[in-house]
Amino acid sequence: MSHFPAWGRAKMHGFFTTAIPLIQQEIPALDQVKVGICGLGTVGCGTFNVMLRNAADINARAGKRIEISHVASRRAPTKCDPKGVRFSTDIFEVVRDPDLQIVVELIGGIDTARELVLQAIEAGKHVVTANKALIAVHGNELFEAALNKGVALAYEAAVAGGIPIIRALREGMAGNEIRWIAGIINGTSNYILTEMGKGREYAEVLAEAQAKGYAEADPTFDVEGIDAAHKLVILGSIACRIPLQFDKVYTEGISKLSPLDLRYAEELGYRVKHLGIIWRAPEGVELRVHPTLIPEERLIARVDGVMNAVLVEGDAVGPTLYYGAGAGAEPTASSVIADIIEIARQVDLPPSARTPYLGFEYSGQTALPILPIEECVTSYYLRMTVEDRPGALAAIARIFSESGISIEALIQKEAKAGQKQVPIILITSEAREGELLKAFAAVEALDQVVAPLVKIRLENLDG
Ligand code: HSE
Repeated sequence: MSHFPAWGRAKMHGFFTTAIPLIQQEIPALDQVKVGICGLGTVGCGTFNVMLRNAADINARAGKRIEISHVASRRAPTKCDPKGVRFSTDIFEVVRDPDLQIVVELIGGIDTARELVLQAIEAGKHVVTANKALIAVHGNELFEAALNKGVALAYEAAVAGGIPIIRALREGMAGNEIRWIAGIINGTSNYILTEMGKGREYAEVLAEAQAKGYAEADPTFDVEGIDAAHKLVILGSIACRIPLQFDKVYTEGISKLSPLDLRYAEELGYRVKHLGIIWRAPEGVELRVHPTLIPEERLIARVDGVMNAVLVEGDAVGPTLYYGAGAGAEPTASSVIADIIEIARQVDLPPSARTPYLGFEYSGQTALPILPIEECVTSYYLRMTVEDRPGALAAIARIFSESGISIEALIQKEAKAGQKQVPIILITSEAREGELLKAFAAVEALDQVVAPLVKIRLENLDG
């Protein structure tokens, strides 16, 4: 509606000198919903602060007066001041608090978090969590427990921080067959790749990402792709109506990437991003996270720093792109609070009124299998170091040709004075990973080629 911005400008410029009469109406007292927060670290304090700051909006949207009445943290919080609110150092005190309807789990980790969530469900509390590892690894068990108890278990903040991608997939795109998803879903890796692209050292940038609070407690989860795999498996289940199967996600991180390859990729018209990819093939689902070359003209190729972006292609809607902050206190709090509001709105409704946890009712139908990586279809960027003598390139080309793989692009650098080896960079056509790897092994076995090759997958993301 165009009059809202116009009204906003008029107000800013002081055109209204008298108060606008409000329509008088009876505002009934709102019912109260009591919430407990376990964990007052970055996200816990972010949630606490935003809940206080935006209380009027939040209550009006929920149609309830939402009160944080109990918080728990092993250590005294440094980023928020919960004075006047019951405080416990034992997080399980929150679960035992009979006054609470909603427990928010923001402690992270898996084992204690699982115990906490199971006990909260058993106590009949609705649960909100931002814990992707917990949902990815134990989600099937937790959803079943919540279903049996008739309580909500909400996890919008678990994937892509502040981007409401769970709701987009589960509700906004519910009428589509989701064909594929490609997402930058680990902010730390994206931050490191962006800075490495400017010529900075990996270790220095990782330390910076940790200092800024982007990285997981164990940053191996970020740089080895595990955090992205946790998020991808959740998206994959919603998109393809399959149970959560974290152990079947192919996972590769950014820790072995060299700045040299980022530069060669750019020379060829690509940028390297750490992507989570879901592809719904007729015979099964590809679920993989790995560094990926993508054409520089794609919007997602320009998503830099700690930002996340998720491209989703549905058969009806076509491609859609969701972009926003994937980590940080208040972006993540934004998603946590959306879940609290949704539960508060429905707190008096029967469980059947709620959206199913993964967006579909499992009724015993056979789920699509998850394909092993050898069955996935992709193309590759290769960098090889080759003895500078006649016949090397011909031998490599012969192997690819005999394997039915085309060379789509190639750069060979001239040998500098005194140099006996030269780099060759090439891009292959698409093929099954198993066939590609066989051809690469044959190339590595050539005596002119120095093994191992540098191999990075490439996706065109063009439908
Ligand atoms: N370590 C995560 C990231 C935080 O960098 O994306 C948000 O899940």
